[in-house]
Amino acid sequence: MVVNVNEYYENIQNNYLFVEIARRVEKYQEENPDADLIKMGIGDVTKPLVKSVIKAFHNAVDEMADADKFRGYGPEQGYDFLIEDVIENDFKPLGIELKNSEVFISDGAKCDTGNFQELFSQDNIIAVTDPVYPVYVDSNVMAGRSGKPTDDGFYENIVYLPCTAENNFVPELPKEDVDIIYLCYPNNPTGTTLTKDQLKVWVDYAHEKNALILFDAAYEAFISTENVPHSIYEIEGAKEVAVEFRSYSKTAGFTGTRCGYCVVPEEVYVKNSKGEDVQLNPLWNRRQSTKFNGASYPVQRAAQAIYTDEGKKEIRENLDYYLENAKVIRDSLEKIGLEVYGGVDSPYIWFKTPDDIDSWTFFDILLDQANVVSTPGAGFGPSGEGYIRLTAFNTYEKTVEAMERIKELKF
Ligand code: MLT
Repeated sequence: MVVNVNEYYENIQNNYLFVEIARRVEKYQEENPDADLIKMGIGDVTKPLVKSVIKAFHNAVDEMADADKFRGYGPEQGYDFLIEDVIENDFKPLGIELKNSEVFISDGAKCDTGNFQELFSQDNIIAVTDPVYPVYVDSNVMAGRSGKPTDDGFYENIVYLPCTAENNFVPELPKEDVDIIYLCYPNNPTGTTLTKDQLKVWVDYAHEKNALILFDAAYEAFISTENVPHSIYEIEGAKEVAVEFRSYSKTAGFTGTRCGYCVVPEEVYVKNSKGEDVQLNPLWNRRQSTKFNGASYPVQRAAQAIYTDEGKKEIRENLDYYLENAKVIRDSLEKIGLEVYGGVDSPYIWFKTPDDIDSWTFFDILLDQANVVSTPGAGFGPSGEGYIRLTAFNTYEKTVEAMERIKELKF
């Protein structure tokens, strides 16, 4: 008997980025037990769930203790009560009509964006913006859709679209043909956005090339700038060429509670090897029905509460609190002469390291000399080299304190 491993896992470089950072931070803390670390690395929230969410969560848990109201397996696609509120609140105000069957509630956008690639054959060429949220790349590498890693930090057979200060963080259309394009806007990690016209370029490209866009809108709730789309479906023609992912993690503090959803419009078709059209929505439905049993009932009731008047007001306060932190970070870093991006329509601030210090070295400087945990830009891809990401998700007090410490650094 021999059990053969999925050798594509051997192509994956290092640990998952945030696991690697956690490992380094833990080691540092062990060696420096008195160090008072301020965590601005992984985008994890610090504010507790808002009151109306907690109330709905409690009520639903009580229902589970009542024989008349108890619920067992729910619909794999999510309960209609939540789906209807999603459509009514997240899309209708933008002029976007969706059917219930086009919205799939899940346990978060990380899982959805990682799993969605299963629907596509191995020979598809994927394109990612660079730097990029590592889940898109790693999940495709695991599935064998890439070649080997190269010495300079890329993977063969994946098309990288550099987004740097030089091109104002706007990716250029690929020169080679690609099939599946991952776009995340507001962007993780750079915190930058695309305007409607800039996103339209991608929708038009997908139409022209029969490509598909996997659009991650996990950070849309942070948008305040006019003309920055909250959903890709605000762009004409997007329903035929795009799937959209949303998350309650950052919108409503659900990083530990787990809930999100994805939208797979009925208009999206891909091809089989005979060249025939295959509708994507039933495939995702089939995948979810087979491999997922739905987010839990109390969690979906908790998520629904953010669409009440009270819930909307409460989560807005939290989002504004984090945006205020983002402003503090931006202003402080700019004041000490750093080149700073993002942090306006996003909880992420992306800045260039001074004197071209490489990302991991500067990560160590921040950790060791300021006791601030950051994320090195290079961890998100080769074009992230020379940059650092900070998150605005810590408390206001700690954010201010972190900026004071960074100001004192000598570099
Ligand atoms: C991040 O820090 O990039 C995110 O928190 C990771 C995630 O959402 O999985």
